[in-house]
Amino acid sequence: MNRIKSVAKEKTSLNNYEVDNIYQSWCHQPPQSPARVVSAKGVRFTTEDGRERLDFSSCFVSHNIGHQDQRVVDAICKQANKLTSFAPSFSTEPRAILGKMLEDITPGNLGTSFISLGGTEANEAAIKIAQQYTGKRKIVGRYRSYHGGTGASMSVSLGDPRSWAVVTGTTDVVAVPQPYCYRCPFGHKYPACNMQCIKYTEEVIKLEGGDEAIAGMICEPVTGANGIIVPPPEYFPMLRDICDKYGIMLIADEVMTGFGRTGKWFALDHWDVVPDILSLAKGLTSGYFPLGATVTTKEVGKYFMDNMFSHGATYAGHALGCATAAEVIKIYESDNLIENSATLGKYLLEKALELKEKHPIIGDVRGLGLFVGLELVKNQKTMEPLIPIDAKIRKGLNPKLELGKRLGELGMMAMAANPSNVIAMAPPLIATKADIDEGVSIMDEALEVLRKYTE
Ligand SMILES: Cc1ncc(COP(=O)(O)O)c(C=O)c1O
Repeated sequence: MNRIKSVAKEKTSLNNYEVDNIYQSWCHQPPQSPARVVSAKGVRFTTEDGRERLDFSSCFVSHNIGHQDQRVVDAICKQANKLTSFAPSFSTEPRAILGKMLEDITPGNLGTSFISLGGTEANEAAIKIAQQYTGKRKIVGRYRSYHGGTGASMSVSLGDPRSWAVVTGTTDVVAVPQPYCYRCPFGHKYPACNMQCIKYTEEVIKLEGGDEAIAGMICEPVTGANGIIVPPPEYFPMLRDICDKYGIMLIADEVMTGFGRTGKWFALDHWDVVPDILSLAKGLTSGYFPLGATVTTKEVGKYFMDNMFSHGATYAGHALGCATAAEVIKIYESDNLIENSATLGKYLLEKALELKEKHPIIGDVRGLGLFVGLELVKNQKTMEPLIPIDAKIRKGLNPKLELGKRLGELGMMAMAANPSNVIAMAPPLIATKADIDEGVSIMDEALEVLRKYTE
């Protein structure tokens, strides 16, 4: 029988275990261990070498309320001492409470939730619910999207190089473009475009069988990893109308944009649009516990009283996770974090626009709330992307990772490892004006490392 061999805790051994025993996400496996984080507090984290850095990415846009909030740690310990988890065929107090809280904070008639363990699971459930509820199979997705790393979520992550290696065939997917005005796929300029992207989407829907074939359309209301793409205000209301016209369920993937990131509880609230299904994770627990939620309308919920809900998981509605989420949601409210995101987000956007004046490598600046992106180009006039859009994810540093590395040296983490040419700034929603000034000033200095690429 195998037994645990001696496991050492000193630095060299831990480094070796990381390299020999652990897969790192979405990269060629590196020969060295990544930096080891030993603690984090508020908007900062500390690595093993004792160096403190500013977290200007909220750990991939998840730790919205900041690190190590004692109220959440206490809530987790309290629940852990009572009941960590139980079989999902039983109710637990935290699960029931979270279900009700999600009904209260989500718009319209949303309010029946399936609670899972993360963003990709939330989207898997969303896609299955749309297919079961409508009895149709096709899902419309948009290029430049990321919806998660598992089968169906990856199939709808269209145009994200992370999906190129995966041919799952699990979902019938139809692709349409995004309202990416900086590089309009139709060569138009907003608003003279008359929303050609929406017209084209409707044409594709008709060609693909419309109300007979299409179950759902999945969108990130503000596209995250693929470029902080903020739609024009008419886009989602128009899309909502098209979905209604063809009996298509609008699935809003608010895994990144939910819970105040864009300055409202949910990004679609900016345009008063209510989806049929809302996918949540990340800010739901602010990273204190892995949790996802797929929130449907109550009407859809009722449908599954007479029809089998064909989805589930051992850890569905995990008690510790639900207790964590309930505490985190209270904190968004009690600490006015959503308002802070709206106010400081405007300030961050202004500061980012100033960076564009100084750095020819920045072609465009976009953002909503504390979710601001700088799109990197070789030349502001020709708009040539810094990294070609069809570039494979190659081994070694690309210019954007070079920027990420420089930021690290200067004392900050931003979202540099995503697939697009956009570097995203998304500090925790507890950030202060001074934190924003510090982050922007580090970004200012770090961007110098890219000057050699400008033409
Ligand atoms: C919009 C969006 N959806 C889904 C996911 C997947 O979430 P998870 O990594 O929790 O599976 C992500 C992750 O970054 C995301 O940004």
